[in-house]
Amino acid sequence: MKEYIQQSSELNPIFQRAAKRFVTGDLREDGVSVGNQLIQKGYRISLEFIGENTINKEECLQAKEEFIALMKECGDRRLSARISFDLSHIGLSIEPGLAYQNLMEMAKEAQSRGLSLMISMEESAKTDQILTIYKKVAVDYSNVGITLQAQLHRTFEDINELIHYPGAIRIVKGAYQEPSNICTPRSEKLDQRYLELVEICVKAGHQVSIASHDNAIYEQVIERGFLRNPYAEAEMLYGIRPEFCKKLKDEGLPVRVYLTYGVEWYLYLCHRIAEYPPNIYTAITDMIYGKGDFSQLY
Ligand code: FDA
Repeated sequence: MKEYIQQSSELNPIFQRAAKRFVTGDLREDGVSVGNQLIQKGYRISLEFIGENTINKEECLQAKEEFIALMKECGDRRLSARISFDLSHIGLSIEPGLAYQNLMEMAKEAQSRGLSLMISMEESAKTDQILTIYKKVAVDYSNVGITLQAQLHRTFEDINELIHYPGAIRIVKGAYQEPSNICTPRSEKLDQRYLELVEICVKAGHQVSIASHDNAIYEQVIERGFLRNPYAEAEMLYGIRPEFCKKLKDEGLPVRVYLTYGVEWYLYLCHRIAEYPPNIYTAITDMIYGKGDFSQLY
């Protein structure tokens, strides 16, 4: 489907109009320029060059080079950004040593430019490998953070170990379908787990990103005063609930917007629709009427 749509001169521009709500554009400059606008408006930003499970060494090196170029550009423009990425994009699916080497190089570059990195969390089969690499790098680089999935039973154990590392922790519910013996599905129980994980970080005075779009989570986060804690922030994906991001930001609460750019926008669009199927209506409307500058919504 992806190849068919991206190679079609008729379908490609139509789908791209729908993707534009969630992806700033094909180019690094698109991400950096929208990021700059949001920073001027008082948001914090994460930036990702979108990529997939890369199983070709050359492509992993290219991805790493792109991240380094992104950091240089952010540094030159004095843009305080957090660079976010999957370890699979820079080599984990080929050889963990390659992902580790690339990550070390990126962490060094980020540190020299006053930037931070955030490692995303992937499917449970990779959790151990990702945490092992994170822990090795975090010892030398406090500017590298890690994402944890509330849906995995193991996460309580992991977080109690990881709060002793210096890097920021991003808490997400988890985007992957996992077997029920290791995972709690979407439910009130999961929301409670999520909030308990945030509370562990807040109580420990550990930097935490509350990465969710869920009203039920935010009602509790606000009621419990988590976002008034200097170490906590809300984080949402670009294009999702921009009016809510603005409301929080206008109330003086810290909000980070997660921006993406790159030509691999098709699967990113599919993920946004899959995680919230009513987005299909938004996508169809954007295909017809989309003008493309969604940054004005913030
Ligand atoms: P949930 O999925 O329960 O949705 C609750 C409500 O939120 C929905 O009913 C709807 O109202 C709203 N909502 C949710 N998604 C929406 C959407 N796309 N559009 C509009 N409304 C929506 N996952 C992972 O496994 N590894 C990772 O590294 C990351 N990284 C990451 C970074 C950031 C900044 C965010 C925000 C999310 C991630 N995720 C992730 C994804 C995360 O695990 C999860 O799949 C989504 O955030 C959706 O979960 P919610 O917490 O929003 O709740």
